[in-house]
Amino acid sequence: MAQANEPEGPFDHLRREHAALGRAYRLLERLLDAAEAGTTVPRPALATVVDYITLFGDLRHHDKEESLLVPVLIQHGFDWYDGPLARLRRDHRQERYLVRVLSDLSNLTAPWSREDTRCLLGVGREFISFIQTHMNLEHAEIFAPARARLPPEVQTFLLNEFERFDAQHAASTDYVAACRRLDALLALEVRPVAPAREERADS
Ligand SMILES: [Fe+2]
Ligand SMILES: [Fe+2]
Repeated sequence: MAQANEPEGPFDHLRREHAALGRAYRLLERLLDAAEAGTTVPRPALATVVDYITLFGDLRHHDKEESLLVPVLIQHGFDWYDGPLARLRRDHRQERYLVRVLSDLSNLTAPWSREDTRCLLGVGREFISFIQTHMNLEHAEIFAPARARLPPEVQTFLLNEFERFDAQHAASTDYVAACRRLDALLALEVRPVAPAREERADS
């Protein structure tokens, strides 16, 4: 992290995004805990969390890592085919798949079956554990070595590119509204409805 008197660099920027995303992951975990305890998960709440993870986690944060950070790292000697960058790209593909399943569940109009709830729990728990491992990998094996290896002018260039990307992303997506919806949900401290009457008993 940047020291108190040090200007923020590109890796502080990415770490801040991880911290912001962590709020959504913790909220998802609470929804999963509720589902596991047999209470009904409010689907609009799940949709809000998944929407935020998609818009911020994938279309903003992951896209920034893939389209801006990775090319600069390749230019400075990181390996594209093997090691942490190859893992980063594979992880992002897997995360997209997991989030798509959660998104499909949150968009179902019919009541969830038992199988749907099992799927939510399985995929949701896998996603939380997977993303935590992924962020740890990035901190230890990408951000830390890159901070040490990239010249200061390249780090300044990257940070400027990140900020330009953010402005474009905010102007062209529903990102700001998605953040507001997540903040509102966090302020409410979502309380699931009990008992789980919505679930079909057919599977
Ligand atoms: Fe990532
Ligand atoms: Fe990341």
